Amino acid sequence: MTTSNLTEELPAQRKGDDETPVLEVRDLHVEFKTREGIVRAVNGVNYSVKSGETLAVLGESGSGKSVTAQAIMGILDSPPGRVAKGEILFRGQDILKLDEEERRKLRGPKMAMIFQDALSALNPVFSVGNQLGEMFRVHQGMSKKDAKLKAIELMDRVKIPAAKARVNDYPHQFSGGMRQRIMIAMALALEPDLIIADEPTTALDVTVQAQVMDLLAELQKEYAMGLILITHDLGVVADVADKIAVMYAGRIVEQAPIHELYKRPAHPYTRGLLDSIPRLDQKGQELYAIKGLPPNLLKPPAGCAFNPRCPKAQDICRTDVPALVPVTERDGAELVGRASACHFWKEQIHG
Ligand SMILES: Nc1ncnc2c1ncn2[C@@H]1O[C@H](COP(=O)(O)OP(=O)(O)OP(=O)(O)O)[C@@H](O)[C@H]1O
Ligand code: SF4
Ligand SMILES: [Mg+2]
Repeated sequence: MTTSNLTEELPAQRKGDDETPVLEVRDLHVEFKTREGIVRAVNGVNYSVKSGETLAVLGESGSGKSVTAQAIMGILDSPPGRVAKGEILFRGQDILKLDEEERRKLRGPKMAMIFQDALSALNPVFSVGNQLGEMFRVHQGMSKKDAKLKAIELMDRVKIPAAKARVNDYPHQFSGGMRQRIMIAMALALEPDLIIADEPTTALDVTVQAQVMDLLAELQKEYAMGLILITHDLGVVADVADKIAVMYAGRIVEQAPIHELYKRPAHPYTRGLLDSIPRLDQKGQELYAIKGLPPNLLKPPAGCAFNPRCPKAQDICRTDVPALVPVTERDGAELVGRASACHFWKEQIHG
């Protein structure tokens, strides 16, 4: 058995302290030193997630979603990458101050990650039962026999049919959806407080996507974990996330409880993303697409990084970086959990 008090807690006990965030990222800056210059991939990100809560992180390719996650997990490609500034508080403790060995001990029992591509994340030469069992052998000193039983139990939990018969099968013998379930099982194995799922369903067919997402949401609620769900697809997160952070060029440009974001976006970029979702009632109509490309992070545009693509841009947008500020009702009443980094958020939300 593990000696850690936290890992011995039952999931139900964790539900009680839902006021302290499991994870809080404060003013995080991550940069990469490249031959062409410094790539500022993450530029002052703030977000937090509590037990039992799901935070969706949304943004186009290259916006810094994965790099933020890698910094949290302590798996940044370093060098060339490094955290240039900021804090990452795990249950109130800044884990950036820990050494590599202490960080490694967090991965598995405290925080785990689910990647997009299970085939490259799983080891092709070991059976899935072996890989699942290893979590218990290494971290909890379990015997081979007991670890295998635990592996079967986990495969059952993630609804892999005939788990007992398939425990000795290899990753390539499973379908994409089943492999993704195995990744979820690996992440869940030691009942971490936090799971980061980076595009967990992007490589799957639409129907399988929904099944895997439902499973993840169900298990997350049951285990009362904090979940950070990274995606570039707003359609995927509507039913599972509590709140959302929209990223653009390494910054958070809008934050909101999920349903409020759909109803009343407070940033032109979010508006554009919402307008780009295919809708059944508009079948046959041409789909809106945000014009242009995400900026080159070696040389981001001055002012608001979105200005070259923004239909609402004005002169100030080309010179002044908009700060992420609280969004309020017309009369100034607070809108809990809402913020926007647009000089013209009032026009955007209130029309
Ligand atoms: N090892 C690296 N060396 C140099 N630059 C890197 C490295 N890893 C990431 N970057 C840069 O950091 C930026 C953010 O990348 P990140 O992977 O976080 O994007 P993302 O939002 O996850 O995009 P995607 O949706 O494509 O996964 C990109 O511009 C990328 O080129
Ligand atoms: S600050 Fe200006 S350019 Fe940026 S999103 Fe708002 S209106 Fe558009
Ligand atoms: Mg990514």
